[in-house]
Amino acid sequence: GKVLFYDFMVKETPIKMLCETNRTILTVNGLFPGPEIRARKGDTIYVNVTNIGSYGITIHWHGVRQIRYPWSDGPEFITQCPIPSNSSFLQKIILTEEEGTLWWHAHSDWSRATIHGPLIIMPAYGKMYPYKFDQEHTIVIAEWYTRDTKAIIDEALETGGDPDLSVAYTINGQPGDTYSCSNGSAYNKTFVRGKTYLFRIINSGMNEEMFVGIAKHNLTVVGMDGSYLKPLKTNYLMITPGQTMDVLVTANQTPGRYYMLFSPFVDTNAPSNKNVARGIFQYTGNYNHSEIPVSPVLPGSTNKSDAGNFTIQLRSLNSKEHPSKVPTKITRNITIAVSVNQQPCPANQTCTGPQGTMHSASLNNISFSAPPISILQAYYNNIYGVYNRTFPDQPPTLFDFTGNVSALGEAANVTTEVLKIDYNDEVEIRFQGTNFGAAENHPMHLHGYSFYVVGMGDGNFSETEISKYNTIDPPYVNTVGLPKNGWAAIRFKADNPGVWFMHCHLERHSSWGMDAVLIVRDGKKKHQKVRPPPKDMPPCSVSS
Ligand code: C2O
Ligand code: CU
Repeated sequence: GKVLFYDFMVKETPIKMLCETNRTILTVNGLFPGPEIRARKGDTIYVNVTNIGSYGITIHWHGVRQIRYPWSDGPEFITQCPIPSNSSFLQKIILTEEEGTLWWHAHSDWSRATIHGPLIIMPAYGKMYPYKFDQEHTIVIAEWYTRDTKAIIDEALETGGDPDLSVAYTINGQPGDTYSCSNGSAYNKTFVRGKTYLFRIINSGMNEEMFVGIAKHNLTVVGMDGSYLKPLKTNYLMITPGQTMDVLVTANQTPGRYYMLFSPFVDTNAPSNKNVARGIFQYTGNYNHSEIPVSPVLPGSTNKSDAGNFTIQLRSLNSKEHPSKVPTKITRNITIAVSVNQQPCPANQTCTGPQGTMHSASLNNISFSAPPISILQAYYNNIYGVYNRTFPDQPPTLFDFTGNVSALGEAANVTTEVLKIDYNDEVEIRFQGTNFGAAENHPMHLHGYSFYVVGMGDGNFSETEISKYNTIDPPYVNTVGLPKNGWAAIRFKADNPGVWFMHCHLERHSSWGMDAVLIVRDGKKKHQKVRPPPKDMPPCSVSS
Protein backbone atom coordinates (compact mmCIF):
# COMPACT_ATOMS: atom_id res chain seq x y z
CA GLY A 1 0.00 0.00 0.00
CA LYS A 2 0.84 3.71 -0.19
CA VAL A 3 1.56 6.18 2.55
CA LEU A 4 -0.83 9.16 2.65
CA PHE A 5 -0.72 12.39 4.65
CA TYR A 6 -3.55 14.58 5.94
CA ASP A 7 -3.66 17.68 8.12
CA PHE A 8 -6.46 18.15 10.65
CA MET A 9 -6.83 21.52 12.31
CA VAL A 10 -9.28 21.42 15.23
CA LYS A 11 -10.66 24.90 15.79
CA GLU A 12 -13.64 27.02 16.76
CA THR A 13 -15.55 27.90 13.58
CA PRO A 14 -18.40 30.39 13.14
CA ILE A 15 -21.39 28.73 11.50
CA LYS A 16 -24.91 29.68 10.41
CA MET A 17 -27.58 27.05 10.94
CA LEU A 18 -31.28 26.81 11.54
CA CYS A 19 -31.78 30.57 11.89
CA GLU A 20 -28.95 30.81 14.40
CA THR A 21 -26.26 33.38 13.81
CA ASN A 22 -23.33 34.08 16.12
CA ARG A 23 -22.65 30.43 16.88
CA THR A 24 -19.26 28.83 16.89
CA ILE A 25 -18.72 25.10 16.84
CA LEU A 26 -15.62 22.99 17.06
CA THR A 27 -14.67 21.67 13.60
CA VAL A 28 -11.82 20.05 11.73
CA ASN A 29 -10.51 22.39 9.00
CA GLY A 30 -13.62 24.59 9.36
CA LEU A 31 -15.96 21.93 7.96
CA PHE A 32 -19.16 20.30 9.29
CA PRO A 33 -19.16 17.40 8.60
CA GLY A 34 -15.38 17.19 8.57
CA PRO A 35 -13.04 16.39 5.66
CA GLU A 36 -13.13 13.04 3.93
CA ILE A 37 -10.14 10.72 4.13
CA ARG A 38 -9.85 8.42 1.13
CA ALA A 39 -7.41 5.54 0.83
CA ARG A 40 -7.10 2.02 -0.51
CA LYS A 41 -6.98 -1.25 1.32
CA GLY A 42 -3.51 -1.79 2.74
CA ASP A 43 -2.49 1.90 2.79
CA THR A 44 -1.03 3.68 5.81
CA ILE A 45 -2.32 7.15 6.60
CA TYR A 46 -0.67 9.80 8.74
CA VAL A 47 -2.95 12.51 10.11
CA ASN A 48 -1.29 15.43 11.80
CA VAL A 49 -3.93 16.59 14.30
CA THR A 50 -3.36 20.14 15.55
CA ASN A 51 -5.65 21.44 18.25
CA ILE A 52 -6.17 25.19 18.39
CA GLY A 53 -9.53 24.84 20.11
CA SER A 54 -9.95 25.84 23.73
CA TYR A 55 -9.91 22.38 25.33
CA GLY A 56 -8.21 19.02 24.90
CA ILE A 57 -9.61 16.57 22.33
CA THR A 58 -8.83 13.17 20.84
CA ILE A 59 -9.64 11.60 17.44
CA HIS A 60 -10.64 7.97 16.79
CA TRP A 61 -10.64 6.07 13.48
CA HIS A 62 -13.86 4.13 13.90
CA GLY A 63 -13.67 0.58 12.53
CA VAL A 64 -9.93 0.52 11.79
CA ARG A 65 -8.35 -2.39 13.64
CA GLN A 66 -4.98 -0.61 14.10
CA ILE A 67 -3.11 -3.90 14.32
CA ARG A 68 -0.76 -3.90 17.35
CA TYR A 69 -0.89 -0.11 17.37
CA PRO A 70 -3.51 1.10 19.86
CA TRP A 71 -1.47 4.31 20.36
CA SER A 72 -3.39 6.12 17.62
CA ASP A 73 -6.81 4.67 18.41
CA GLY A 74 -7.98 7.74 20.26
CA PRO A 75 -10.51 7.19 23.09
CA GLU A 76 -9.55 9.60 25.86
CA PHE A 77 -8.07 8.09 29.00
CA ILE A 78 -8.25 4.65 27.38
CA THR A 79 -5.39 4.84 24.85
CA GLN A 80 -4.21 8.44 25.29
CA CYS A 81 -4.72 11.68 27.16
CA PRO A 82 -6.36 14.54 25.26
CA ILE A 83 -4.30 16.59 22.81
CA PRO A 84 -4.01 19.89 24.72
CA SER A 85 -4.80 23.27 23.11
CA ASN A 86 -2.04 24.58 20.90
CA SER A 87 -0.31 21.28 20.31
CA SER A 88 -0.35 18.44 17.80
CA PHE A 89 -0.26 14.66 17.62
CA LEU A 90 0.74 12.73 14.48
CA GLN A 91 -1.68 9.80 14.28
CA LYS A 92 -0.95 6.72 12.22
CA ILE A 93 -3.81 4.74 10.70
CA ILE A 94 -2.82 1.27 9.62
CA LEU A 95 -5.28 -0.22 7.13
CA THR A 96 -5.14 -3.97 6.72
CA GLU A 97 -8.35 -5.90 6.01
CA GLU A 98 -10.83 -2.99 6.10
CA GLU A 99 -12.59 -2.24 2.78
CA GLY A 100 -15.64 -0.01 2.34
CA THR A 101 -16.95 2.93 4.33
CA LEU A 102 -15.77 3.80 7.84
CA TRP A 103 -15.50 7.13 9.62
CA TRP A 104 -13.49 9.13 12.12
CA HIS A 105 -14.70 11.15 15.09
CA ALA A 106 -13.59 12.92 18.24
CA HIS A 107 -13.52 10.57 21.23
CA SER A 108 -13.49 12.99 24.16
CA ASP A 109 -16.55 14.26 26.07
CA TRP A 110 -19.27 15.08 23.46
CA SER A 111 -17.09 16.80 20.88
CA ARG A 112 -17.85 14.13 18.29
CA ALA A 113 -21.17 15.95 17.72
CA THR A 114 -19.34 18.29 15.35
CA ILE A 115 -15.95 16.59 14.90
CA HIS A 116 -16.50 13.68 12.54
CA GLY A 117 -16.11 12.74 8.89
CA PRO A 118 -15.90 9.88 6.37
CA LEU A 119 -13.00 7.44 6.05
CA ILE A 120 -13.39 5.72 2.70
CA ILE A 121 -11.35 2.66 1.84
CA MET A 122 -11.43 1.57 -1.78
CA PRO A 123 -10.24 -1.85 -2.98
CA ALA A 124 -6.45 -2.35 -3.17
CA TYR A 125 -4.67 -1.21 -6.35
CA GLY A 126 -5.70 -3.43 -9.24
CA LYS A 127 -8.67 -4.95 -7.38
CA MET A 128 -12.35 -4.50 -8.18
CA TYR A 129 -15.42 -3.79 -6.12
CA PRO A 130 -17.58 -6.92 -5.88
CA TYR A 131 -20.48 -4.84 -7.30
CA LYS A 132 -21.02 -2.24 -10.02
CA PHE A 133 -21.99 1.41 -9.82
CA ASP A 134 -21.66 4.56 -11.92
CA GLN A 135 -21.11 7.21 -9.27
CA GLU A 136 -20.87 7.53 -5.52
CA HIS A 137 -22.13 9.91 -2.85
CA THR A 138 -21.36 10.05 0.84
CA ILE A 139 -24.07 10.84 3.37
CA VAL A 140 -23.19 11.74 6.94
CA ILE A 141 -26.13 11.79 9.33
CA ALA A 142 -25.56 13.93 12.41
CA GLU A 143 -27.44 15.92 15.04
CA TRP A 144 -27.57 19.64 15.66
CA TYR A 145 -27.36 21.16 19.13
CA THR A 146 -28.11 24.75 20.03
CA ARG A 147 -25.50 24.80 22.81
CA ASP A 148 -21.90 23.76 23.20
CA THR A 149 -21.96 19.97 23.62
CA LYS A 150 -19.17 19.91 26.18
CA ALA A 151 -21.21 22.20 28.43
CA ILE A 152 -24.28 20.00 27.89
CA ILE A 153 -22.63 16.79 29.03
CA ASP A 154 -20.58 18.37 31.84
CA GLU A 155 -23.79 19.79 33.35
CA ALA A 156 -25.71 16.56 32.95
CA LEU A 157 -23.02 14.46 34.61
CA GLU A 158 -22.76 16.86 37.50
CA THR A 159 -26.44 16.71 38.36
CA GLY A 160 -27.06 13.16 37.15
CA GLY A 161 -29.69 14.46 34.74
CA ASP A 162 -30.45 13.53 31.18
CA PRO A 163 -28.40 15.74 28.82
CA ASP A 164 -30.20 18.11 26.44
CA LEU A 165 -30.77 16.29 23.24
CA SER A 166 -30.27 17.75 19.82
CA VAL A 167 -32.82 19.94 18.05
CA ALA A 168 -32.49 18.48 14.54
CA TYR A 169 -30.98 15.67 12.50
CA THR A 170 -28.73 16.69 9.64
CA ILE A 171 -27.72 15.22 6.28
CA ASN A 172 -24.23 16.43 5.37
CA GLY A 173 -24.75 19.35 7.74
CA GLN A 174 -28.31 20.34 6.72
CA PRO A 175 -31.62 19.20 8.20
CA GLY A 176 -33.53 19.82 4.98
CA ASP A 177 -36.81 21.43 4.08
CA THR A 178 -38.76 20.55 7.21
CA TYR A 179 -36.91 23.51 8.77
CA SER A 180 -37.62 26.79 7.02
CA CYS A 181 -34.20 28.29 7.74
CA SER A 182 -32.35 25.55 5.97
CA ASN A 183 -34.82 25.06 3.15
CA GLY A 184 -32.56 26.39 0.42
CA SER A 185 -29.51 24.42 1.51
CA ALA A 186 -31.13 21.00 1.86
CA TYR A 187 -29.29 17.95 0.51
CA ASN A 188 -30.38 17.85 -3.12
CA LYS A 189 -28.65 15.76 -5.76
CA THR A 190 -29.48 14.97 -9.36
CA PHE A 191 -29.50 11.48 -10.81
CA VAL A 192 -29.47 10.20 -14.36
CA ARG A 193 -32.17 7.73 -15.24
CA GLY A 194 -30.73 4.24 -15.76
CA LYS A 195 -27.58 4.82 -13.71
CA THR A 196 -26.66 3.14 -10.43
CA TYR A 197 -25.36 5.12 -7.48
CA LEU A 198 -23.39 4.00 -4.46
CA PHE A 199 -24.43 5.76 -1.28
CA ARG A 200 -21.97 5.56 1.59
CA ILE A 201 -24.15 6.22 4.64
CA ILE A 202 -22.62 7.02 8.02
CA ASN A 203 -24.72 7.38 11.16
CA SER A 204 -22.57 9.72 13.20
CA GLY A 205 -25.62 10.79 15.23
CA MET A 206 -25.12 11.02 18.97
CA ASN A 207 -28.13 9.21 20.36
CA GLU A 208 -30.52 8.07 17.65
CA GLU A 209 -30.90 5.05 15.45
CA MET A 210 -32.35 5.84 12.02
CA PHE A 211 -34.67 4.38 9.43
CA VAL A 212 -33.65 5.42 5.92
CA GLY A 213 -35.53 5.27 2.61
CA ILE A 214 -35.94 6.90 -0.80
CA ALA A 215 -39.48 7.15 -2.18
CA LYS A 216 -40.34 4.41 -4.74
CA HIS A 217 -36.71 3.19 -5.00
CA ASN A 218 -35.20 -0.06 -3.82
CA LEU A 219 -32.05 0.05 -1.76
CA THR A 220 -29.48 -2.73 -2.12
CA VAL A 221 -27.14 -3.02 0.85
CA VAL A 222 -23.73 -4.33 -0.27
CA GLY A 223 -21.43 -3.42 2.59
CA MET A 224 -21.37 -2.49 6.24
CA ASP A 225 -18.71 -1.32 8.70
CA GLY A 226 -15.90 -1.72 6.17
CA SER A 227 -16.78 -5.25 5.04
CA TYR A 228 -18.83 -6.61 2.12
CA LEU A 229 -22.30 -8.10 2.42
CA LYS A 230 -24.37 -10.34 0.18
CA PRO A 231 -26.55 -7.86 -1.70
CA LEU A 232 -29.74 -7.32 0.30
CA LYS A 233 -32.64 -5.66 -1.48
CA THR A 234 -34.91 -3.69 0.81
CA ASN A 235 -37.09 -0.59 0.88
CA TYR A 236 -35.71 0.77 4.15
CA LEU A 237 -32.55 0.59 6.22
CA MET A 238 -32.07 0.62 9.96
CA ILE A 239 -28.72 2.13 10.92
CA THR A 240 -27.49 2.75 14.46
CA PRO A 241 -25.02 5.38 15.63
CA GLY A 242 -21.57 4.00 14.83
CA GLN A 243 -22.70 1.95 11.85
CA THR A 244 -21.85 2.64 8.21
CA MET A 245 -23.60 1.12 5.17
CA ASP A 246 -22.80 0.94 1.48
CA VAL A 247 -26.02 1.00 -0.51
CA LEU A 248 -26.74 0.83 -4.25
CA VAL A 249 -29.67 2.71 -5.74
CA THR A 250 -30.62 2.53 -9.42
CA ALA A 251 -32.49 5.52 -10.80
CA ASN A 252 -35.10 3.38 -12.55
CA GLN A 253 -38.38 5.14 -11.74
CA THR A 254 -40.44 7.73 -13.59
CA PRO A 255 -38.29 10.88 -13.76
CA GLY A 256 -39.33 13.10 -10.89
CA ARG A 257 -38.38 14.39 -7.46
CA TYR A 258 -38.26 11.94 -4.58
CA TYR A 259 -37.64 12.47 -0.91
CA MET A 260 -34.80 10.72 0.85
CA LEU A 261 -35.89 10.34 4.44
CA PHE A 262 -33.99 9.82 7.67
CA SER A 263 -36.37 9.19 10.51
CA PRO A 264 -35.55 8.17 14.09
CA PHE A 265 -36.17 4.83 15.74
CA VAL A 266 -36.53 5.92 19.34
CA ASP A 267 -37.97 2.72 20.74
CA THR A 268 -39.91 4.53 23.43
CA ASN A 269 -43.03 6.59 23.32
CA ALA A 270 -41.22 9.71 24.41
CA PRO A 271 -42.34 12.60 22.23
CA SER A 272 -39.62 13.72 19.86
CA ASN A 273 -38.94 17.42 19.46
CA LYS A 274 -37.35 16.85 16.08
CA ASN A 275 -38.54 16.61 12.52
CA VAL A 276 -37.27 13.96 10.17
CA ALA A 277 -34.23 14.92 8.07
CA ARG A 278 -35.05 15.15 4.40
CA GLY A 279 -32.98 15.32 1.22
CA ILE A 280 -34.11 15.35 -2.39
CA PHE A 281 -33.29 12.77 -5.02
CA GLN A 282 -34.06 14.42 -8.32
CA TYR A 283 -33.83 13.12 -11.89
CA THR A 284 -32.00 15.16 -14.53
CA GLY A 285 -33.68 16.27 -17.74
CA ASN A 286 -36.94 17.92 -18.70
CA TYR A 287 -40.07 16.32 -17.40
CA ASN A 288 -43.24 17.39 -15.70
CA HIS A 289 -43.17 16.99 -11.99
CA SER A 290 -45.13 18.19 -9.04
CA GLU A 291 -43.39 20.73 -6.84
CA ILE A 292 -43.72 18.49 -3.83
CA PRO A 293 -41.52 15.40 -3.97
CA VAL A 294 -42.97 11.96 -3.30
CA SER A 295 -42.29 10.71 0.26
CA PRO A 296 -41.22 7.19 1.20
CA VAL A 297 -43.16 5.24 3.80
CA LEU A 298 -40.85 4.26 6.64
CA PRO A 299 -41.52 2.20 9.76
CA GLY A 300 -42.91 4.22 12.67
CA SER A 301 -40.51 5.61 15.26
CA THR A 302 -41.24 2.85 17.79
CA ASN A 303 -41.42 -0.06 15.35
CA LYS A 304 -39.07 -2.54 17.01
CA SER A 305 -39.99 -5.46 14.78
CA ASP A 306 -39.22 -3.60 11.54
CA ALA A 307 -35.89 -2.47 13.01
CA GLY A 308 -35.03 -6.08 13.89
CA ASN A 309 -36.36 -7.56 10.64
CA PHE A 310 -33.95 -5.49 8.61
CA THR A 311 -30.94 -6.33 10.77
CA ILE A 312 -31.41 -10.10 10.92
CA GLN A 313 -31.31 -10.40 7.12
CA LEU A 314 -27.70 -9.16 6.82
CA ARG A 315 -25.13 -11.75 5.64
CA SER A 316 -21.46 -11.32 4.87
CA LEU A 317 -20.44 -11.76 1.23
CA ASN A 318 -18.32 -14.83 2.04
CA SER A 319 -16.91 -15.13 -1.49
CA LYS A 320 -13.66 -16.70 -2.59
CA GLU A 321 -11.99 -13.31 -2.50
CA HIS A 322 -13.69 -12.17 0.71
CA PRO A 323 -14.13 -15.30 2.82
CA SER A 324 -15.69 -15.34 6.28
CA LYS A 325 -13.49 -16.79 9.02
CA VAL A 326 -15.85 -17.37 11.90
CA PRO A 327 -14.13 -18.78 15.03
CA THR A 328 -15.62 -22.16 15.92
CA LYS A 329 -13.41 -23.35 18.81
CA ILE A 330 -14.39 -20.92 21.49
CA THR A 331 -11.82 -20.72 24.28
CA ARG A 332 -13.28 -17.75 26.17
CA ASN A 333 -16.97 -17.28 26.76
CA ILE A 334 -18.23 -14.02 28.24
CA THR A 335 -21.74 -12.81 29.00
CA ILE A 336 -22.28 -9.10 29.45
CA ALA A 337 -25.49 -7.66 30.88
CA VAL A 338 -26.12 -4.23 29.36
CA SER A 339 -28.26 -1.94 31.45
CA VAL A 340 -29.31 1.55 32.34
CA ASN A 341 -29.43 2.03 36.11
CA GLN A 342 -29.56 4.77 38.71
CA GLN A 343 -27.02 5.87 41.28
CA PRO A 344 -27.91 7.36 44.65
CA CYS A 345 -27.52 11.12 44.82
CA PRO A 346 -24.42 12.16 46.79
CA ALA A 347 -25.16 13.87 50.13
CA ASN A 348 -25.52 17.67 49.98
CA GLN A 349 -26.35 17.57 46.29
CA THR A 350 -29.54 17.85 44.30
CA CYS A 351 -29.82 15.33 41.52
CA THR A 352 -32.09 15.62 38.53
CA GLY A 353 -32.20 11.95 37.49
CA PRO A 354 -35.25 9.69 38.02
CA GLN A 355 -36.74 10.10 41.52
CA GLY A 356 -33.90 12.41 42.53
CA THR A 357 -31.18 9.84 41.70
CA MET A 358 -28.41 10.12 39.14
CA HIS A 359 -28.65 8.51 35.73
CA SER A 360 -26.16 5.72 35.33
CA ALA A 361 -25.48 2.76 33.04
CA SER A 362 -23.42 -0.38 33.33
CA LEU A 363 -21.95 -3.54 31.82
CA ASN A 364 -22.14 -6.50 34.21
CA ASN A 365 -23.22 -4.03 36.87
CA ILE A 366 -20.00 -2.06 36.56
CA SER A 367 -20.43 1.56 35.64
CA PHE A 368 -17.17 2.52 33.96
CA SER A 369 -15.23 5.40 35.39
CA ALA A 370 -12.34 6.75 33.32
CA PRO A 371 -9.00 7.06 35.11
CA PRO A 372 -6.98 10.31 35.11
CA ILE A 373 -4.22 8.82 32.92
CA SER A 374 -4.56 6.49 29.97
CA ILE A 375 -5.08 2.78 30.61
CA LEU A 376 -2.83 1.91 27.65
CA GLN A 377 0.05 3.92 29.08
CA ALA A 378 -0.47 2.41 32.53
CA TYR A 379 -0.55 -1.10 31.03
CA TYR A 380 2.45 -0.64 28.76
CA ASN A 381 4.59 0.99 31.44
CA ASN A 382 3.42 -1.24 34.33
CA ILE A 383 1.98 1.61 36.36
CA TYR A 384 -0.16 0.11 39.12
CA GLY A 385 -3.28 1.50 40.71
CA VAL A 386 -4.86 2.90 37.54
CA TYR A 387 -7.34 0.07 36.89
CA ASN A 388 -8.51 -3.26 38.34
CA ARG A 389 -8.50 -6.60 36.55
CA THR A 390 -11.66 -8.06 37.96
CA PHE A 391 -14.31 -7.44 35.31
CA PRO A 392 -16.49 -10.56 35.65
CA ASP A 393 -17.08 -12.99 32.75
CA GLN A 394 -20.70 -13.42 33.89
CA PRO A 395 -23.28 -10.93 35.16
CA PRO A 396 -23.97 -10.90 38.90
CA THR A 397 -27.04 -12.92 39.81
CA LEU A 398 -29.09 -9.89 40.83
CA PHE A 399 -30.04 -9.49 37.20
CA ASP A 400 -33.46 -10.69 36.21
CA PHE A 401 -33.68 -10.26 32.48
CA THR A 402 -37.35 -11.06 32.35
CA GLY A 403 -38.26 -7.51 33.11
CA ASN A 404 -38.78 -7.50 36.84
CA VAL A 405 -37.76 -3.91 37.34
CA SER A 406 -38.23 -4.12 41.10
CA ALA A 407 -35.10 -6.25 41.19
CA LEU A 408 -33.25 -3.01 40.60
CA GLY A 409 -32.37 -2.63 44.23
CA GLU A 410 -28.69 -2.15 43.82
CA ALA A 411 -26.78 0.59 42.13
CA ALA A 412 -23.90 -0.37 39.87
CA ASN A 413 -20.30 -0.27 41.09
CA VAL A 414 -18.55 2.79 39.73
CA THR A 415 -14.98 1.60 39.03
CA THR A 416 -12.30 1.20 36.36
CA GLU A 417 -12.22 -2.50 35.51
CA VAL A 418 -10.58 -4.19 32.55
CA LEU A 419 -11.26 -7.55 30.99
CA LYS A 420 -8.04 -9.42 30.18
CA ILE A 421 -8.02 -11.76 27.21
CA ASP A 422 -5.21 -14.06 26.05
CA TYR A 423 -3.62 -13.64 22.66
CA ASN A 424 -5.37 -15.76 20.02
CA ASP A 425 -8.26 -16.73 22.27
CA GLU A 426 -11.38 -17.46 20.26
CA VAL A 427 -13.83 -15.22 22.07
CA GLU A 428 -17.62 -15.28 22.22
CA ILE A 429 -19.42 -12.40 23.92
CA ARG A 430 -23.14 -12.67 24.57
CA PHE A 431 -24.63 -9.27 25.18
CA GLN A 432 -27.83 -9.52 27.21
CA GLY A 433 -30.16 -6.54 27.31
CA THR A 434 -32.08 -5.97 30.51
CA ASN A 435 -35.33 -4.32 31.34
CA PHE A 436 -33.90 -1.98 33.92
CA GLY A 437 -34.43 1.73 33.51
CA ALA A 438 -35.36 2.94 30.08
CA ALA A 439 -34.92 -0.19 27.99
CA GLU A 440 -33.59 0.74 24.57
CA ASN A 441 -31.54 -0.83 21.84
CA HIS A 442 -27.84 -0.51 22.47
CA PRO A 443 -25.40 -0.23 19.55
CA MET A 444 -22.44 -2.01 21.15
CA HIS A 445 -19.12 -1.08 19.55
CA LEU A 446 -15.69 -2.67 19.95
CA HIS A 447 -12.39 -0.99 19.11
CA GLY A 448 -9.45 -2.94 17.63
CA TYR A 449 -11.65 -5.62 16.08
CA SER A 450 -14.50 -6.40 13.80
CA PHE A 451 -16.59 -9.35 14.95
CA TYR A 452 -19.08 -11.82 13.55
CA VAL A 453 -22.67 -11.48 14.77
CA VAL A 454 -23.53 -15.19 14.99
CA GLY A 455 -26.92 -14.82 16.68
CA MET A 456 -29.47 -12.34 17.93
CA GLY A 457 -32.92 -12.59 19.44
CA ASP A 458 -35.60 -11.34 21.81
CA GLY A 459 -35.80 -12.05 25.52
CA ASN A 460 -33.21 -14.03 27.41
CA PHE A 461 -30.35 -15.85 25.75
CA SER A 462 -30.59 -19.60 26.19
CA GLU A 463 -28.05 -22.32 25.41
CA THR A 464 -30.45 -23.82 22.87
CA GLU A 465 -29.68 -20.83 20.63
CA ILE A 466 -26.13 -22.05 20.03
CA SER A 467 -27.24 -24.73 17.59
CA LYS A 468 -29.00 -22.00 15.57
CA TYR A 469 -25.94 -19.75 15.27
CA ASN A 470 -24.87 -18.68 11.80
CA THR A 471 -21.20 -19.66 11.61
CA ILE A 472 -21.13 -19.65 7.80
CA ASP A 473 -21.83 -16.08 6.66
CA PRO A 474 -22.72 -13.85 9.61
CA PRO A 475 -22.12 -10.10 9.11
CA TYR A 476 -18.62 -8.91 10.08
CA VAL A 477 -19.07 -5.56 11.80
CA ASN A 478 -17.72 -3.27 14.52
CA THR A 479 -21.08 -2.24 15.99
CA VAL A 480 -24.05 -4.50 16.77
CA GLY A 481 -27.52 -3.19 17.59
CA LEU A 482 -28.36 -5.19 20.72
CA PRO A 483 -32.16 -5.43 20.59
CA LYS A 484 -34.21 -3.96 23.43
CA ASN A 485 -34.58 -6.65 26.11
CA GLY A 486 -32.95 -9.10 23.73
CA TRP A 487 -29.52 -10.59 23.19
CA ALA A 488 -26.76 -10.68 20.58
CA ALA A 489 -23.82 -13.09 20.34
CA ILE A 490 -20.55 -12.07 18.69
CA ARG A 491 -17.31 -13.92 17.93
CA PHE A 492 -13.76 -12.84 17.17
CA LYS A 493 -10.24 -14.17 17.38
CA ALA A 494 -8.13 -12.12 19.80
CA ASP A 495 -5.22 -11.64 17.40
CA ASN A 496 -4.78 -7.90 17.96
CA PRO A 497 -2.95 -7.23 21.23
CA GLY A 498 -3.60 -3.91 22.93
CA VAL A 499 -6.03 -1.93 25.02
CA TRP A 500 -9.42 -1.68 23.33
CA PHE A 501 -12.52 0.22 24.35
CA MET A 502 -15.96 -1.38 24.13
CA HIS A 503 -19.05 0.75 24.63
CA CYS A 504 -22.58 1.63 23.67
CA HIS A 505 -22.46 4.11 20.78
CA LEU A 506 -25.42 6.05 22.20
CA GLU A 507 -23.44 8.90 23.71
CA ARG A 508 -25.74 9.32 26.71
CA HIS A 509 -25.29 5.71 27.72
CA SER A 510 -21.54 5.76 27.22
CA SER A 511 -21.25 8.91 29.32
CA TRP A 512 -23.29 7.23 32.05
CA GLY A 513 -20.83 4.32 32.18
CA MET A 514 -21.99 1.74 29.61
CA ASP A 515 -18.38 1.01 28.74
CA ALA A 516 -15.66 -1.56 29.32
CA VAL A 517 -12.03 -2.03 28.36
CA LEU A 518 -10.51 -5.17 26.90
CA ILE A 519 -6.81 -5.79 27.29
CA VAL A 520 -5.66 -8.41 24.80
CA ARG A 521 -2.29 -9.70 26.00
CA ASP A 522 0.76 -9.91 23.77
CA GLY A 523 1.60 -13.19 22.07
CA LYS A 524 4.98 -14.83 22.53
CA LYS A 525 6.51 -13.90 19.18
CA LYS A 526 7.83 -10.46 18.31
CA HIS A 527 5.14 -9.79 15.68
CA GLN A 528 2.45 -10.63 18.24
CA LYS A 529 3.23 -7.78 20.61
CA VAL A 530 2.03 -4.18 20.89
CA ARG A 531 4.39 -1.93 18.93
CA PRO A 532 6.27 0.79 20.82
CA PRO A 533 4.56 4.18 21.28
CA PRO A 534 5.32 7.21 19.11
CA LYS A 535 7.47 9.94 20.67
CA ASP A 536 4.76 12.60 20.57
CA MET A 537 2.00 10.93 22.67
CA PRO A 538 0.00 13.73 24.31
CA PRO A 539 1.20 14.06 27.90
CA CYS A 540 -0.88 12.79 30.80
CA SER A 541 -1.01 14.83 33.94
CA VAL A 542 -3.30 14.05 36.82
CA SER A 543 -4.90 17.48 36.55
CA SER A 544 -5.89 17.08 32.86
CU1 C2O B 1 -17.18 5.35 17.13
CU2 C2O B 1 -15.49 4.32 20.65
O1 C2O B 1 -16.31 4.88 18.87
CU1 CU C 1 -26.98 2.07 25.12
